[in-house]
Amino acid sequence: MTALIKWKNHHIQDVEVNLLLHALNERYGYDFTGYARASLKRRLLDLMSYFELEHLTQLIPIMLYDEAVAQTVINSISVPTSEFFRDPFVWAYLRKNIIPLLASFPRINIWQAGCGFGQEAYSLSILLHEAGLAKRSHIFCTDINPEFLHEAKKGCWAMRNLNPWQNYYEKSGGTGEFADFFIEQKNSIAIRANYKQNVEFVQHNLVNDDVFKEVQFVVCRNVLLYFGEELQNHVVSLFTRSLERGGYLLLGSGENILNLNEHHPRLELLDYSLQIYRKTMGITSHV
Ligand SMILES: C[S@@+](CC[C@H](N)C(=O)[O-])C[C@H]1O[C@@H](n2cnc3c(N)ncnc32)[C@H](O)[C@@H]1O
Repeated sequence: MTALIKWKNHHIQDVEVNLLLHALNERYGYDFTGYARASLKRRLLDLMSYFELEHLTQLIPIMLYDEAVAQTVINSISVPTSEFFRDPFVWAYLRKNIIPLLASFPRINIWQAGCGFGQEAYSLSILLHEAGLAKRSHIFCTDINPEFLHEAKKGCWAMRNLNPWQNYYEKSGGTGEFADFFIEQKNSIAIRANYKQNVEFVQHNLVNDDVFKEVQFVVCRNVLLYFGEELQNHVVSLFTRSLERGGYLLLGSGENILNLNEHHPRLELLDYSLQIYRKTMGITSHV
């Protein structure tokens, strides 16, 4: 406890953050410079506490020569927190309003960006199965972090999550038996193979990789809130270019696109509290 208070009282200077991010980018190719500074600093303070460091810059030489330490730093900056049917009211809306509209596209390609350990990807897969659309849909799930993608592919979580996630599923309007989507193991639950069939996990960095694919639906929740404004705009442009005309974009309900009309005229806001957008049918080439 004393240690925690000690590190909580530490201040990290911008110059220290800049040096660490520069080293991370030069040595490992991860560019976190456009991330929102306040939350970045909070996570760097946690790292200082974890490694019991007086100064953030002490982490730089350790991280440069020890890849495991670098991976710890990367993991702590790219937080994978997620849940099945997280924010059930959003899923209830998707179930009722968006999935039936997606059904009008001959093929349904979904890009789920920032997938963490995969709970959101498999929630989408369940929704598409329940709507009878799984056979003609494909979910491309991307994340910057290869360790998270590896876990997401496995599709296993601790058993203790079953009840809270079942509760979310029911609140989202799910009428099935949530436990039936999983094989129960000793202390864990594993998603059944048929919900994995239309789900693919690929490494992709929203900072410097290009448009992923043409898709009808982009889901990127609780990722943009970690980014600074410039990077948010860059990523929303990427999503807009990736979307087919008339396609949909869903962000986290605590996120929103600033200066939408000015920066992203091809997107129209459908619902502010849900943060759901649609790409207009217009034929202008700017995004
Ligand atoms: C808080 S999780 C969100 C998980 C899920 N979308 C949800 O809302 O439940 C944020 C995810 O974004 C990923 N991420 C962070 N920066 C990224 C980047 N530059 N490119 C791709 N993914 C990134 C992290 O690795 C992490 O898995």
